Amino acid sequence: MEACQCEAKWEELDQIIAAHRGQPSALIEVLHQAQDLIGYLPRQVQIAIAEGLKVSLTEVYSVISFYHHFTVKPKGKYQVSVCKGTACYVKGSPEILERLQKELGIKAGDSTDDGKFSLEVVRCLGACGLGPVMTVNKRAYGLLKPDKAAAILKTYN
Ligand code: FES
Repeated sequence: MEACQCEAKWEELDQIIAAHRGQPSALIEVLHQAQDLIGYLPRQVQIAIAEGLKVSLTEVYSVISFYHHFTVKPKGKYQVSVCKGTACYVKGSPEILERLQKELGIKAGDSTDDGKFSLEVVRCLGACGLGPVMTVNKRAYGLLKPDKAAAILKTYN
């Protein structure tokens, strides 16, 4: 079985599952609660949820893959969030995201293998005038260009 940092939370997870036992329609809700609890959705958790709610593991996995919000890897030490809200989008956030994906060697929704960075796409960070915007953990950076975004990333190495 792969390593999982969820043992300590297992009892609480059991309670979440028990509250929705045999209810396939509660799948998204349970996945949300489980991710809020553990931080991500490792395979053991997916299996427990599938068994508890009486849905197939394939179904659990397809829901997780469909929603960017869900992740099967622990979040990195530095959470990089790129805004793809309308204002940032038209000012070039797709190029920022593309460059960061290239720099980190991962796609949005994923984490680097060394556990240092995770990358995600978010909607409007509330600083549209400074678009394109990204945050690293809680710190915001605006008026980005691809080179500037890559240089910011390097300061976290
Ligand atoms: S659209 Fe990006 S901060 Fe509002």
